[in-house]
Amino acid sequence: MHTQEALIHIQDYLKKESNITKFHECQIDGIDLADLRKLEKLGYLEQVYESKNHVYFKLTHKPIESNIDVLPANLFGLIVGYDDIKHVFGKALLSKAPVHILLVGKPASGKSLFMSEIERIGIARYSFGSTTRNAGLTRYLVENRPEILIIDELDDARAHELDVLHGLMSENPIISELKTGRTETVEFNCKVFASCNSIDRLPEKLLSRFIVLHLPEYTEQQFIDIIVSVLTNQEHKPQDVAEQIAHQLVRELKRYEIRLAIKIARLCSTIADVNTFIATLQRYS
Ligand SMILES: Nc1ncnc2c1ncn2[C@@H]1O[C@H](COP(=O)(O)OP(=O)(O)O)[C@@H](O)[C@H]1O
Ligand SMILES: [Mg+2]
Repeated sequence: MHTQEALIHIQDYLKKESNITKFHECQIDGIDLADLRKLEKLGYLEQVYESKNHVYFKLTHKPIESNIDVLPANLFGLIVGYDDIKHVFGKALLSKAPVHILLVGKPASGKSLFMSEIERIGIARYSFGSTTRNAGLTRYLVENRPEILIIDELDDARAHELDVLHGLMSENPIISELKTGRTETVEFNCKVFASCNSIDRLPEKLLSRFIVLHLPEYTEQQFIDIIVSVLTNQEHKPQDVAEQIAHQLVRELKRYEIRLAIKIARLCSTIADVNTFIATLQRYS
């Protein structure tokens, strides 16, 4: 098994076990003793005990090196336009050394879409949100040692989470966690991909560690193109219905709201439905 894949299996396994320092080599599907010995040689595992039938290892604190060599061919395929940004993301994802990118833009500018596309690469395993809040970002990092950290809506992060993030993005990232009375220190090699609506509340020192890309507002034509693309590809609407929704919403109502277009699409199956719905919206807005 591939080193990276094996390590991720092991980390997943350890997450589910109450005893996180030991594991039993036979209990993880697809990983055999030869894999474990290889990981031991590479410095990721340390043997702690050997009995007649079993060998026990524990994870060392060696950070997992970037191992993404190829990106899925259709990565970012759902995103209309932004070829230049897709190119930068592609380079950053393949870079061996960490590069951090922050997308800034108004709602519905496609930021979450970029984040969820990155999640499609198998080892990008994390999205910022309520679960992190409860578990704590530090705990998450120490337990998962992600190679890629995705933080959608960074504006919502609390001050101490921003501090943890700043530490993670420093030259020699080390995260410490107090665990049963002693401090666990873990080295990191992690890229951060984040998005936010505004950078106003974010500390300058944190921003300086990111490549910051500001997404401009879409033009009317871009809105129409995106709406048609989203409605045909994601909502599986016929082309003519999608075009009618886009045209009516953008050109007639001047409502530049992709999410509203999606709602209308869910309620309308024909051009006549669209016209009736738009008239109702016009009457009551
Ligand atoms: N460039 C784009 N290409 C395709 N779909 C887009 C694009 N920009 C926005 N969308 C669509 O618009 C909606 C809102 O986008 P989202 O990524 O959630 O925006 P944000 O996170 O910036 O608020 C989603 O359904 C998304 O698929
Ligand atoms: Mg979003």
